[in-house]
Amino acid sequence: MKVGIVLYSQTGNTQRVIDDLRVKLEARGIQVEVHSILPATAADAQSRPEAAPPLDGSSSCQLWVVAAPVQGWAPAKPMTEFLKSAAFPAGSRAVLLVTQGFWFPWFGANQSISGLRKLCEERGLDVLDHGIVSWLGRGLEQRIHKVTQRLAQCLAAEINGK
Ligand SMILES: Cc1cc2nc3c(=O)[nH]c(=O)nc-3n(C[C@H](O)[C@H](O)[C@H](O)COP(=O)(O)O)c2cc1C
Repeated sequence: MKVGIVLYSQTGNTQRVIDDLRVKLEARGIQVEVHSILPATAADAQSRPEAAPPLDGSSSCQLWVVAAPVQGWAPAKPMTEFLKSAAFPAGSRAVLLVTQGFWFPWFGANQSISGLRKLCEERGLDVLDHGIVSWLGRGLEQRIHKVTQRLAQCLAAEINGK
């Protein structure tokens, strides 16, 4: 089974976590399909020119990762706008990922997870788990590893029937 990744990353942090998750999934023989939402500025878009094809329900993926940064105590707007019109295949499940600049999850990450969860559930997704990576302070690599390891395990367990 393939995993679909819906990603928005304005300055590359969320992209970096997703790259790590992707390596862990592929190491388990799991294929991924990335739907990358274009960054907000033209300069960013030049460095990561992938556009997201709209999700119209025709994807073969039933497992999803929805990943975005916190912006203003909420999930970044390009992601919320994208999700409002996204169609996921029936029976799809998802894990959520947010990155944030501040250390404490109540500085926007918890609110962002709740917001993404609500939008995903409205689109028919069953949310299985979530991860938060704070960019502030030492031990960033370890924090990324811990979150991607858990999400990769969760997705692999779904694929392998637990
Ligand atoms: C406009 C804007 C608003 C932000 N608001 C928050 C916030 O409310 N809480 C927080 O912890 N970090 C905030 N940040 C920091 C980002 O969430 C953090 O740097 C994130 O890892 C960026 O991910 P990206 O590189 O994938 O865009 C904000 C960043 C920007 C640019």
